[in-house]
Amino acid sequence: MSIPADKQPAACATTGAGAPAASDRPTLPIGPDGPILLPDVHVLEQMAHFNREKVPERQPHAKGAGAFGMFETTGDVSKYTRAAMFQPGASTEMLARFSTVAGEQGSPDTWRDVRGFSLKFYTAEGNYDLVGNNTPIFFVRDPMKFPHFIRSQKRLPDSGLRDNHMQWDFWTSNPESAHQVTYLMGVRGLPRTWRHMNGYGSHTYMWISANGEKFWVKYHFHTEQGMQFFSNAEASEMAGHDADFHRRDLFNAIERGEHPSWILSVQVMPYADAKDYRFNPFDLTKVWPHGDYPLIRVGRMTLNRNPENFFAQIEQAAFSPGNTVPGIGLSPDKMLLGRAFAYADAQRNRIGTNFHQLPVNQPKVPVNTYLFDGQMAYHHSGNAPVHAPNSGGRPWADQSGPVADGWETDGGMVRSAYTLHAQDDDFGQPGTMVREVFDDAQRQALIDQVAGSLLGGVRSPVLERAFEYWKNIDPDVGQRIENEVRAGSAAEPAEGMGEG
Ligand code: HEM
Repeated sequence: MSIPADKQPAACATTGAGAPAASDRPTLPIGPDGPILLPDVHVLEQMAHFNREKVPERQPHAKGAGAFGMFETTGDVSKYTRAAMFQPGASTEMLARFSTVAGEQGSPDTWRDVRGFSLKFYTAEGNYDLVGNNTPIFFVRDPMKFPHFIRSQKRLPDSGLRDNHMQWDFWTSNPESAHQVTYLMGVRGLPRTWRHMNGYGSHTYMWISANGEKFWVKYHFHTEQGMQFFSNAEASEMAGHDADFHRRDLFNAIERGEHPSWILSVQVMPYADAKDYRFNPFDLTKVWPHGDYPLIRVGRMTLNRNPENFFAQIEQAAFSPGNTVPGIGLSPDKMLLGRAFAYADAQRNRIGTNFHQLPVNQPKVPVNTYLFDGQMAYHHSGNAPVHAPNSGGRPWADQSGPVADGWETDGGMVRSAYTLHAQDDDFGQPGTMVREVFDDAQRQALIDQVAGSLLGGVRSPVLERAFEYWKNIDPDVGQRIENEVRAGSAAEPAEGMGEG
C-alpha cells in the first residue's frame, strides 16, 4: 500500500468532518442484542455515503484505465502552429486514458472493439484534450447518427443481450461505416495491449501559426513498442482468464519502470487545399494517403506514472474535444463539432457541475472563469465582479478586441464540403485496404471473422445487405464471405463484435 505523503492518515479514523470516529466495527445498540441507535452518526454516514459511491459510467467508452506522463516536442512545427506545447523543446505533463467503446465497466478488455485513446495535456496555455481512437477513421460522419450507432452496438431492449443482427443492421444501413468496419474486423480489431497499439486524432483539426496562417492537420501516435495483435482464440481465452488484461498490463509495465512511448507525427494540409482535395478532408470516414500529405515528426509521449487513485484520477477524468488552446482549432468536421458539445455536457451529468475543478481536470495555469457556483463549487473568485464587462478591474474575454481562436472558418467551404470532392464514395478506401494493405492470410482472416459474425444470428434482409456491402468493398471478398456463410462453414463459431 502506498499512501502519498500529503495523504497520510490521522492517528485514528475520523468522520468526514474530521472528528475521531467512535468505532469502525460494532455499531451502538441498546444492550448487546438491542436495536442500534441514531446517535451512532458514524455508521449512518458510512451507509449513506456508500449508497453514493458510484457515479454513472461513461455512456460509450465505460471500460478503461490510464496513466500520467510527459509529451516532449522534439521536432519543429512552429511554422504551422503557435501552440506553446508544440514549440521546439517544450515539455508538457499529460494524462492518457485507453478504453473499449461498447462494453460496460466490467466487460473484458480483449473483446473485439475500437479502442479509445484519450489525451489531456496540461499546457502552459490551459488544458488541451485530444480524444481519439486507435483507428484513423470512424463509423459515421454525422453526429445525428452517433447515438443510434452506439445503441446498436450495446444491448437489446428486451433481453439486455448484445446482438450481431443489430450491429450489422446499423452498419449495412449506413455504408459510410465500411472503412471503419473493415478496420475493426481486420487484424487491428484486437490489439494485444494498449502499449502495442497506435493512436489517432482521427478528425481533421486546424493549426494556426504565429502570423495567423491556418492549416489542416491529422494526428498520428505510433507506438514505439511495435504493433502487436491477438488472434481471436487468444483474445477469447484472455477475456475469460483476465477481463482486466489491458488495464493490468499497463499498470504493471509502468510499475516495472517500462514506460511506454509513442511518436507523434502530423499530416499538414495547406488551408486552401481543402476546397478541391480528392477526398473531403472533413469526412471522418476517410484518411489522407501519406503520399498526398507526408508525416511530419512532432515529438514523443511517454507514460511514466500510474494513478494513485483510480476513481479520483481516471473515473473522474473528463476529456473533451472542445478543450483547445491558442494555435489549435476545430474544423468543419460535423462529428467533431457535435463532440465539442457532447463531452462537457456528459461530464456535468456523470461527475457534477464543477467537474472541471477536480484536481485531475484542473489546468496547471491560473483560471479566471465566469462560471459560478453550482453543486460542489470549490474554487471561487471571492467578491470579484461576477459580470462581464465590468468596471471592477476583473479581465474578461475579448476585452481588447476579437480573439482569433481559429475555430471559425470559411462558411462557403463548410457548405460546399460535401459536394466538391472527386473520390468521396464510401467503398474506395476500404477496398484499397483489403486489396493492397492486407496479405492473403489477413484477407482470409477478415473473411472468416465477418462470416463468423454474420452466422451469429444475422437474418434477412440484413444478411443480404451485408453481402452487398462487402461486394461493394471488394467483389471477390464479398463473394467469399457469402460463400462461407451460405455453406455455414466459417472457421469459428459466430460471436458478437465484443466476443472475439
Ligand atoms: C458525434 C459523435 C460523438 C459523440 C456525440 C460522442 C460522445 C461521447 C460521450 C458522451 C462520451 C463520454 C464522455 C464522458 O462521460 O466523460 C464519449 C467518450 C469517448 N469518445 Fe466519443 N463521441 C463521438 C464520437 C467519437 C469519435 C469520433 C471518437 C474518436 C475519434 C470518440 C472517442 C471517444 C473516447 C476515446 C471516449 C472516452 C473518453 C475518456 O477516456 O474519458 N468519440 N464520447
